[in-house]
Amino acid sequence: MTTSMIKHRVTASTLLANKQHGKKTIWLTAYDAHSAALAEAAGVDVILVGDSLGMVSLGFDSTIPVTLEHMIHHTSAVMRGCCKPWVVCDLPFGSYQQSPEQAFAAAAKILQQTACDAVKIEGGAHMAPTIHFLSERGIAVVAHIGLMPQSMKKIGGFKKQGTSPEAAQAILHDAQLVSDAGAVAVVLECIPHDLAEEITQNIAIPTVGIGAGKHCDAQVLVWHDLLGLSENSPPFAPAYAHLRNTITQAIQQWGDDVRAGKLL
Ligand code: KIV
Repeated sequence: MTTSMIKHRVTASTLLANKQHGKKTIWLTAYDAHSAALAEAAGVDVILVGDSLGMVSLGFDSTIPVTLEHMIHHTSAVMRGCCKPWVVCDLPFGSYQQSPEQAFAAAAKILQQTACDAVKIEGGAHMAPTIHFLSERGIAVVAHIGLMPQSMKKIGGFKKQGTSPEAAQAILHDAQLVSDAGAVAVVLECIPHDLAEEITQNIAIPTVGIGAGKHCDAQVLVWHDLLGLSENSPPFAPAYAHLRNTITQAIQQWGDDVRAGKLL
């Protein structure tokens, strides 16, 4: 397909217009060309090449070991597999926290080598200056607040965030600051639903919920959770298929047929 044949490529403006018109935007993670093509065929608006890659595909027990090279490799594959969705690539742990300049170098490398549309970084108030720095230099940044998996070792696991009034207030403040700093959207992970609703009503940019309730402007899920491929999905991630069983049974059946001499 040539660029001229793509009638409605999704852009950052599409996401904002959707929020303003009360239209939900659909985000899904994908990590390779094949899954990106399937997500596009199913009408997904935004593909997030999340650093969840490390846990669901690369066999790590957290997102911490994921590198810039991993993200570039997989985001390039996603870009080869789809034309229409807006594609966001996570900046991995250690590639942006040190300074705005470090974040710019990492983001520029990703944008130049993959041609994706935006980068995502974890962090609220403390990352606002970095978001501003990147945004001022023409980079579309998605912020990620609430449960931030790259801080898992500090927070002691995948726990719901914003459960006390003080913590909820801090997350509300984070959301306001990343919006003011120029983020084009903000992921709200695993926070109380009423807090996500309040944030969604009070900030100008789209909110993207995962475990944050139905009031967010958009929803995101991890590919393996949605399709029932994960061994352990978070309780807030609904499975719409059970492919883990289907795939295992198909492979078993084929193995049985080969062993029984039923196949050439
Ligand atoms: O890495 C990821 O897949 C994410 C989503 C869970 C939002 O950040």
